Amino acid sequence: MNILMVCLGNICRSPMAEGILSQKARLNGLSWHIDSAGTGGWHVGEAPDERAIKVMKQNGIDISPLKARQFVAADFDKFDKIYVMDSSNYLDVIRLSRQAEDKEKVDLILNITYPGMNKAVPDPYYGVINDYVQVFGLLNEVCQRIIDTHIHGNKR
Ligand code: 4NP
Repeated sequence: MNILMVCLGNICRSPMAEGILSQKARLNGLSWHIDSAGTGGWHVGEAPDERAIKVMKQNGIDISPLKARQFVAADFDKFDKIYVMDSSNYLDVIRLSRQAEDKEKVDLILNITYPGMNKAVPDPYYGVINDYVQVFGLLNEVCQRIIDTHIHGNKR
């Protein structure tokens, strides 16, 4: 599986999602390719936000080597699934789609754990460290579900 996580800046939510899912895939012996990107270009080349790095490190995952990049239309060709964090990311990604097949790859990540509710992973950038802890909890739960569904199907 090739999975792309997308948020606005690619320095908070999507690199956290990338790190969490990468670790879970590795621990389950799955050789998946997981990456992340931002719809905006302001932080291209930067490491994740220090608060995101800190909360991830407290959970045993090092995302400090990651570098932000911007989402491009060619990503539709490289990935099987594109998970976005909120509805604004969704619209920005869909705007770059070229065909129905591209659009079908895109979904709000929390629709996995909260089907059809179109819930957002809240943007923690203007928040405090506890907002990053909350984002970690949401993403950890949904990434575990991605792994469990792959391994066991939708049985539970
Ligand atoms: P992210 O958070 O989308 O989770 O990476 C943000 C990071 C930077 C900005 C907005 C959101 N920004 O406006 O610079």
